[in-house]
Amino acid sequence: MAKLRVGVLVSGTGSLLQAILEGQDSSYEVGVVASDRPGIRALERAEKAGVPTVVVEFPKGEAREIASEKIARTLRNHEVGLGVLAGFMKVVTANFFDILGVPAMNSHPALLPSFPGAHGVRDALAWGVRVTGTTIHFATPDLDGGPVIFQEAVEVLADDTEETLHERIKVVEQRLYPEAIRLFADGRLKLEGRRVHILPAPG
Ligand code: GAR
Repeated sequence: MAKLRVGVLVSGTGSLLQAILEGQDSSYEVGVVASDRPGIRALERAEKAGVPTVVVEFPKGEAREIASEKIARTLRNHEVGLGVLAGFMKVVTANFFDILGVPAMNSHPALLPSFPGAHGVRDALAWGVRVTGTTIHFATPDLDGGPVIFQEAVEVLADDTEETLHERIKVVEQRLYPEAIRLFADGRLKLEGRRVHILPAPG
């Protein structure tokens, strides 16, 4: 099977991107990294790994649609077979998915459908839940609403701050995200309605 090329979207530190880069193997490779902001740590990580980078600024309002199109075209031009949102903090509009033309995934730092949006960790902590976690899911125009691939719980500790809780969640995301990409690359994710079945490894 040909290696899957993925295009990763980032906005910040890029610890997830790093895990995805380190997870590259015979199944997948990172072909391009796109960001909505210049000068971020995630772009440095991509450059260090020799992966081409692109910055597409994401203004508010109608221009968001143009930016979404631009970023989708960038990924297409790099012939990616999967879009990977890894800490991308801008909301892409529906045309992103149409133009991309291949599936996309997202990692969210909460157990969806609880606490969607930009502050999944903060909102879970403020709600007072005992358990939160991470969700790796197919991304769709419905924000944080696509079919779930993996979920794993993370306990909330009495003295947790948003930062300490997020750090423990990120450790789990860093383990699960490369695995989800690998399963997709190996053709082992089968979508049936909203449910994602993980097929056994061949042989
Ligand atoms: C991750 O926890 C990811 O789930 C979250 O941002 C963090 C990125 O960390 N994404 C979202 O909240 C998207 N709504 P990183 O920049 O260190 O990879």
